[in-house]
Amino acid sequence: MPDVDTLETRDFRPGVSTPNGAAALVKGAGALDWGMQNRLSSIFSGPGGRTVMLAIDHGYFQGPTSGLERIDLDILPLVGSADALMLTRGILRSVVPPASQVPFVLRASGGPSVLGELSDEYVALDMQDAARLNAAAVAVQVFIGGKYESRTVKNMLQLIDDGLRYGIPVLGVTAVGRELTRDARYLRLACRIIAELGASVVKTYYCDDGFESVTATCPVPVIMAGGKKLPELEALTMAHRAVQEGAAGVDMGRNIFQSEHPSAMIAAVRAVVHDDREPEDAYDLFRSLVADA
Ligand code: R5P
Repeated sequence: MPDVDTLETRDFRPGVSTPNGAAALVKGAGALDWGMQNRLSSIFSGPGGRTVMLAIDHGYFQGPTSGLERIDLDILPLVGSADALMLTRGILRSVVPPASQVPFVLRASGGPSVLGELSDEYVALDMQDAARLNAAAVAVQVFIGGKYESRTVKNMLQLIDDGLRYGIPVLGVTAVGRELTRDARYLRLACRIIAELGASVVKTYYCDDGFESVTATCPVPVIMAGGKKLPELEALTMAHRAVQEGAAGVDMGRNIFQSEHPSAMIAAVRAVVHDDREPEDAYDLFRSLVADA
């Protein structure tokens, strides 16, 4: 039993109100429960509340993707440079050390391989397992306009309802399949639907015909997927434009791990996302890191 508190002088500070505690840096998150906000805050950091998420989940439908053949040897050294990882539970359990402190987003939809109809997805992860693994969020593809559009929306809804039970946010990915357009009109539609239905973060592609209208009309953070490998300066320019036009960061894979110098590339991406560096400056940083290596 502790000693009784007998001190007469106490400091109740009656004129000082307790802050409301909202994770103010995460757009649209103020009304979420504590665990949800805590997880989102682990992904979005720095003065701008942005993220550099490293996407390495490509194997869930296309096997050992170029650059991801040996995640243990080639990707683990990069993990400490990322604000968060996006990956499958298979790679997490088999390759990532449990002592890792980097938050991660678990791929939670799947089904078809690259040989099949990509929109034919199902929920591929139980939320209890996401909780068991301590996921910061789960990610689901939504194929607006795709062949199995409604099922992929239902997949997301199931994960959102399960996630609300456990305090685990859902990241909805605007999956464009092989043939769907990536213009502002389509991306506005897809991002808004995903947010309206309850996702806490939306991942989408950059478009050059009004990306700021995509981020402005989406009430939760939009993060930019990198897409196919580009020359480094082009990829940095795209990331720069995305964050200047309202993205809360990037979820970039191939443009980092398929670079000949992934470690220098992720440092340059961080400079663009977190320090608002111009793409040419970030590219100079990339080249100087390559030269020093
Ligand atoms: C697709 O396989 C995954 O959703 C990736 O996480 C996503 O496409 C981002 O990776 P990348 O920058 O390579 O497009």
